[in-house]
Amino acid sequence: MGNLVVRDLTPVFGAEISGLTPKIPLDSETLGELRKLFDEKALLVFRDIDVDRPFQQYLSYAIINRDPPAQDPTVNPKRESVVSNKVENAIAPVGRLLWHSDMMWSGEACELISLYGLEIGQPAPPTMFVSAAHAWKTLPDDLRARAEHHEAQHVHDISYERSGGDADVLTAQFDDDDCVSMPIAHRHPRTGETLLYVCQQMTSAIVDLPKAESDELLETLFEHIYAPENVFAHQWRKDDLVMWDNLALQHARANVQAEGPPRTLRKTFAPMPAWLKTHLPQFARAGAD
Ligand SMILES: [Fe+2]
Repeated sequence: MGNLVVRDLTPVFGAEISGLTPKIPLDSETLGELRKLFDEKALLVFRDIDVDRPFQQYLSYAIINRDPPAQDPTVNPKRESVVSNKVENAIAPVGRLLWHSDMMWSGEACELISLYGLEIGQPAPPTMFVSAAHAWKTLPDDLRARAEHHEAQHVHDISYERSGGDADVLTAQFDDDDCVSMPIAHRHPRTGETLLYVCQQMTSAIVDLPKAESDELLETLFEHIYAPENVFAHQWRKDDLVMWDNLALQHARANVQAEGPPRTLRKTFAPMPAWLKTHLPQFARAGAD
């Protein structure tokens, strides 16, 4: 295994990797190991690693075997590409994030997301992960039979409806009504795995089912996917680099408070969704006046 030391984070997904020296380009043996690990584990965590944006972006594209864009694809010139409760115009600045895969509503697959801990005060609210691939594999037969031939509709954000009265849930408003319908049994474009492809934050309905039946089936699928024993929580420290497969895994976030300790994470997408370069969602807590 070259110089990399690998430790499983859960029996199902996730690996913590040490021994990586950030440099561009990485040697082909190291890249090959990282690509294999990423396809097998879907979540890679590097700790105490000194990473600048060019390397973070390079590694994000290299791991999924794509050429990086010629220019730094800043999320949007008007918005900082950091998740932060302290930086002005940051992404998702406060609140609790419901379970989702970024851009699920667009049909434009964002394969890999990375976050790097720039400034982390403690206690830092964690980022949580579950495996949509594992959820499909372990789906009980009766549920599979009910779900597998249907499509689900994904919209920008239905966090308000799904907030369960939690005023801290973060909602996002968009300047268009884009949505997409995709098979619930969704084939991963790179690994070929079948994913249980519905999420709490964006999946509005199961196509062709009456609303009550659709709501009930979605709720049952969510209970299966997000069962506590399936969740891995990453506890942030400064200089953590966390990279994950945005299709194979879903993520969520515990509540972040504006007045809480600083929590600033540099974010990259690979490939960079074109939509994000020209749109600015507006964020608000579900309980905002
Ligand atoms: Fe996200």
